Amino acid sequence: MASARVFIFDSDQAAAARYEPALANLEPTELAVVSDLTAAHKLLAAESFDGLVVAIRSAEGTELELIAAARQTDGEVPAVAVCDKPTAENALAALKLGGVDFLTPPLDDDVLARAVDRMLGARRAEAENALLRRQAGRPYVFDDMIGTCAAMRRVFDIIAQVADSGVDCLIHGETGTGKELVARSIHTRSKRADKPFVPVDCGAIPDNLLESEFFGHERGAFTGADKREIGLLEFADGGTFFLDELGELPLLLQAKLLRTLQERRIRRVGGRMEIPVDVRVVAASARNLEEMVDDGRFRRDLYYRINVVRIDLPPLRERGDDLGLLAERFAAKYSRDMGRTIHGLSPEAYQVMSQYAWPGNVRELQNVMRRAIALSTDTLIGPDDLPESLVTQAGRRAARTPPTAGKGATSSTSPGPADVGYFHLRDEHLAKFEKQYLSDLLTRHQGDIKAAAHEAKLPRGTLYRLMKNNDIEGGQFR
Ligand SMILES: Nc1ncnc2c1ncn2[C@@H]1O[C@H](COP(=O)(O)OP(=O)(O)O)[C@@H](O)[C@H]1O
Ligand SMILES: [Mg+2]
Repeated sequence: MASARVFIFDSDQAAAARYEPALANLEPTELAVVSDLTAAHKLLAAESFDGLVVAIRSAEGTELELIAAARQTDGEVPAVAVCDKPTAENALAALKLGGVDFLTPPLDDDVLARAVDRMLGARRAEAENALLRRQAGRPYVFDDMIGTCAAMRRVFDIIAQVADSGVDCLIHGETGTGKELVARSIHTRSKRADKPFVPVDCGAIPDNLLESEFFGHERGAFTGADKREIGLLEFADGGTFFLDELGELPLLLQAKLLRTLQERRIRRVGGRMEIPVDVRVVAASARNLEEMVDDGRFRRDLYYRINVVRIDLPPLRERGDDLGLLAERFAAKYSRDMGRTIHGLSPEAYQVMSQYAWPGNVRELQNVMRRAIALSTDTLIGPDDLPESLVTQAGRRAARTPPTAGKGATSSTSPGPADVGYFHLRDEHLAKFEKQYLSDLLTRHQGDIKAAAHEAKLPRGTLYRLMKNNDIEGGQFR
């Protein structure tokens, strides 16, 4: 990086003077050190940076608002929070922001320099990866998950950020959106990876058996308990307890689970001994738990306890082109598995599939593709190979959506000022301007990003991101 620009905020003036010397040995780095909050906000609104360092001096971590403010214009700018007296509140606030390295005492110059170096390295890698990904035209794969749309990338970022912090997580999403995959990914990326991952479907176990499934039982605890059984919580000790369909857990068990999480001990049914257990809870729900809390069907205290980090998985119908990527992936896999030579989807089949609502999400897509590969008599999957109900429902949905509105619909005439408002027109013009500006700029510099960034007075990372957003590659101009 030619010269990375780092923004530093520390309200303590004496401490603020420390950063220059502490970071003197880093690669060429330009520092903007600010101690005044208003000035800091102004600077962030006016200029962009490759990384932020924010010292937290308040118990609530209000300084973190600076990071949130900077991300209004640059959603991915990495940050380091330096905290002399960490509190649970400010640690949590930092964690919720995501992409924040939280430094706690002992803090010396070396620790700080390494954190800043790491931050700038991540920034550089992010810009380069984004470019590579585009150039290769390959889908983005994170552990076993495929996803390129913004919402899925956000999910991957959160997983990467929280996995090894050990905090409890709540995953929200319709059935088949990949909640269990996310939970497994959190587990394998955590320090608990070599301990068990124990999934429990709260809806699949009859209420009267739940307690002994969770906590185990001693011999003779109830009729039929002819030997001692270890419960799932005890089995998960040191690892991750994945509570699937958490909303199905009866209230009584909710209370017992909460107690376990707070006291970190359990007692087997019919037993006296308190047994220490240490589990991380990752829970999933397709039902809206907040609503259940309001209706008194789910305990508020347990909800807060588990909802430290919330991950929202978008339904498949909102993932844009990810549908095609996933479908092609599954088609290739199943045709290999079944020893067939089917090359993928016909445009007609894809057209139908993209009109369909996919209530069963990725799982339903897998089943549809498996069936299509088995049925297809051609080398491409056609609409005939799709379930009839899917085709009719897609047709009905398409009829409801006016042709100009749907994603991917082509219209040759852009809407005139009569039918769209100011904001729409403004965005359209700005988008045109941005694309034109970038391609002119890169043409002038034959795709040399460094020179182009210099002329535009933009950090290279920002330029990369603008290019990425506009589907522009440096290589086109060489
Ligand atoms: N992003 C994805 N990429 C690839 N496969 C996925 C993705 N999301 C889900 N799947 C697959 O879809 C199926 C359903 O996922 P699962 O995690 O069981 O969903 P949920 O728990 O939300 O019902 C699984 O076979 C999973 O491997
Ligand atoms: Mg599931």
